[in-house]
Amino acid sequence: MTRALIVGNWKMNLNRKESQYLASAVVQQAEVCPAVELVVCPPTVHLVSVAEVIAPSKVRLGAQNMYHRDNGAFTGEVSARMLRDVNCRYVILGHSERRHLLGETNEQVNLKTLAAIEAGLTPIVCVGEQLQDRQAGRTYKVIAEQCQHSLAHLSSQQITRIVIAYEPVWAIGTGKVATPEQAEEVHGDLRKMLEERYNIQIAYGVRLLYGGSVKSDNAGVLLSQPNVDGALVGGASLEAGDFCAIATAGSHS
Ligand code: PGA
Repeated sequence: MTRALIVGNWKMNLNRKESQYLASAVVQQAEVCPAVELVVCPPTVHLVSVAEVIAPSKVRLGAQNMYHRDNGAFTGEVSARMLRDVNCRYVILGHSERRHLLGETNEQVNLKTLAAIEAGLTPIVCVGEQLQDRQAGRTYKVIAEQCQHSLAHLSSQQITRIVIAYEPVWAIGTGKVATPEQAEEVHGDLRKMLEERYNIQIAYGVRLLYGGSVKSDNAGVLLSQPNVDGALVGGASLEAGDFCAIATAGSHS
């Protein structure tokens, strides 16, 4: 049994002081929840100051995005190596806000995934269907396509270095959480896809997170699904109490 992985995606929120305050509250929680791995993903400008706060603890640092090249004339971008240099262990890639608001493609997510692994980061690759896809019965097709292209060219060694987050777009920031059955169905499909492409051992070695309106009152039942290995939490990760309650639910799952 692997420890549940609970990741807080702070998105474009909080100033420096607020980030440090929230990070120290998460550090305190990590001490009472040793059965969970906690990751915080602050905005890029706060990575260094949050890294200082969490340094003595087991809380890990994650970024919300990166560029696939190491360095060069790419104004406004940061590389995987730069993220490693400030002690990031994780990086969220292909979040639906980047895919749908900023036009990020599967091909870009794939390049970033490969570059992140190469630099020693663990990519958290997000996939998920839109409401119209689900209503039209296309959930499986959309997710299979995203996986096929976003995770192209990954060797069996590389695939075990990633985390996949299933985040139905209609559930993100809406308060409309997937039912535990809906989440488990897609997670089971993801597991099968990995098994078909690699093997059963590898399929069970890749951690699968659910994301989309995870709150303290629904985390327990979601995290107790057999194929849900953790959660990617947006809004509720900005409140130390809520995030900690989700972590506690993860430690009991
Ligand atoms: P939410 O966001 O928890 O606010 O729905 C999840 C995410 O975007 O990762």
